[in-house]
Amino acid sequence: MAALFSPFTLRDVTFKNRIAVSPMSQYRAKDGHASSWHAVHLGRFALGGAGLVYAEATAVEAEGRRTHGDLGLWQDTQRDALRPIAEFISQEGSVPGIQLGHAGRKASERRPWHGETPVDGEDLAERNEVPWTAIAPSPIPYAEGWPAPAEMSEPDIERVIVAFGAAARRAHEAGFRIIEVYAAHGFLVHQFLSPIANQRRDRWGGSGENRRRFAVEVARSVRANWPEAYPLAFRLSATDWLEGGIEVEDAVETAKALKAVGVDMIDCSSGGIGGKDRPRRMVIEQGFQVPFAERVREDAGIASMAVGFLWDATVCEDLVSTGKADMIALARELLDDPNWPLHAAKDLEADENHGMWPIESGWWLMKRDRLLSKLGVR
Ligand SMILES: Cc1cc2nc3c(=O)[nH]c(=O)nc-3n(C[C@H](O)[C@H](O)[C@H](O)COP(=O)(O)O)c2cc1C
Repeated sequence: MAALFSPFTLRDVTFKNRIAVSPMSQYRAKDGHASSWHAVHLGRFALGGAGLVYAEATAVEAEGRRTHGDLGLWQDTQRDALRPIAEFISQEGSVPGIQLGHAGRKASERRPWHGETPVDGEDLAERNEVPWTAIAPSPIPYAEGWPAPAEMSEPDIERVIVAFGAAARRAHEAGFRIIEVYAAHGFLVHQFLSPIANQRRDRWGGSGENRRRFAVEVARSVRANWPEAYPLAFRLSATDWLEGGIEVEDAVETAKALKAVGVDMIDCSSGGIGGKDRPRRMVIEQGFQVPFAERVREDAGIASMAVGFLWDATVCEDLVSTGKADMIALARELLDDPNWPLHAAKDLEADENHGMWPIESGWWLMKRDRLLSKLGVR
């Protein structure tokens, strides 16, 4: 049996295979509410055979949205809009997960196709979208041309930590069974972790332990509002790829500290702390972030998820079977082919008769395959 298609259990939750749908923001929510768009976007991945379907970065407070189109979980009505989506994913045999985050200094940004620059008068005129002031550990702008965020006060920090817990409670009520805290790609939790964005001199900045404090407190707050039986994951940027930023050794220490407060898996991404240009050290090739998942898994003794520019089933099989990661996450490959897990299962001879497919499709495809082979087409 292919390792990629072996079940994996964290706490009381079992994923039927090792394939996760990486969180993918749709920028399509209205006041943080999900709609039929999100249901179809996520539902097709459940039908496509992924073991874990993560809903996109979901803001824990309104000011923590990256764009006006981000999902949110700061209100009960947002929970109610997500409930049928989580229910459908569960019903189809996948585990519904959700990524909880706060954009920090990257808040009030325009959608990718509107330029990924700060929200401005054009957005107000065209879509009635109002800019707002972002908050961050230090008043350092995200990139050139961005306004400086407001430095977070102690009450701000406390409020956001509590908001993570409240959102976790709503995620549970909505039917999700794994939470991933977004501590990567230059968003708020990552901003606290990285010395590039965090230049505080109080207990929230300076030493590694101080910079990790916010992530640890967020983890505690989520854990206190999330069932013991359900796993909690963090997505880290394992390196900033920049001089003076986070290196993988820091990520290992962060993983250890998170594990100590009840975090079960680290999803190992990288980069995004600031600036628009890709750091020189960041060379993208298939599986370029896998070494981070391997290192964190080994050195911190925690389950890990590999992500980033993965598409080849045999590469994914190899990295799971050789213990480099416990799970893999795919984003763009799944946009291209939402049935990737089912096709990978066929390629790896884990599913020869479309038995893994929903029967409503599998029954017909199995018959078609027989006909095609009779005709000598395949
Ligand atoms: C449309 C889209 C939206 C994304 N939104 C998020 C997000 O909400 N949270 C996140 O952690 N990463 C997000 N990402 C990054 C992906 O989760 C993933 O880490 C990245 O695309 C690399 O994986 P890939 O090469 O398989 O696409 C997004 C990527 C895409 C393509």
